[in-house]
Amino acid sequence: MKSIPAPVVRAKEAAARSGRPVKVLFVCLGNICRSPAAEGIFRSITESRGIAGNFEIDSAGLYGGHAGELPDSRMRVHAFQRGYNLTHRSRPVRTSDFRDFDLIFPMDDSNFSRLDAMAPDVESQDKIVRMTDLCRRHPGATYVPDPYYEGAEGFEMVLDMLEDACESLADALN
Ligand code: 4NP
Repeated sequence: MKSIPAPVVRAKEAAARSGRPVKVLFVCLGNICRSPAAEGIFRSITESRGIAGNFEIDSAGLYGGHAGELPDSRMRVHAFQRGYNLTHRSRPVRTSDFRDFDLIFPMDDSNFSRLDAMAPDVESQDKIVRMTDLCRRHPGATYVPDPYYEGAEGFEMVLDMLEDACESLADALN
């Protein structure tokens, strides 16, 4: 089994010391497919486990062209079929996110590199963890693929991977 990423362990310990919620930000390119789905899935898991009060959860995108939009209708439909109602409005990543969040989860290497370059200091860089580093049922995966130009199977695959990662994150932070 994969070990829990060190930044996740640190965030859990810091939250336990301070009594504050863990602040989690999911990031992709458009903030209309992968990251709002991750946000909705993680929120749903924490609500069903009765631990939602321990978290602040948001998502954002590195490309601001969809700002203000609901998630892509295909992602909303596929997520709804699994019981997730996605209502997030797309917003761009801000430099202040590195101060405001404890953990930042990019979906792929491009997201990771761009966040790493945006991070204002080393402490901020240390908050960035690849989403696939949390996966247990997809052990070989190194990125959550962009489903934007894919068919239904692409969206289902993304949801499978995000459920895997979000369950693992909830277990790690419980
Ligand atoms: P996401 O998918 O990063 O999972 O939200 C995309 C959505 C839109 C675009 C790219 C990726 N786009 O270039 O418009």
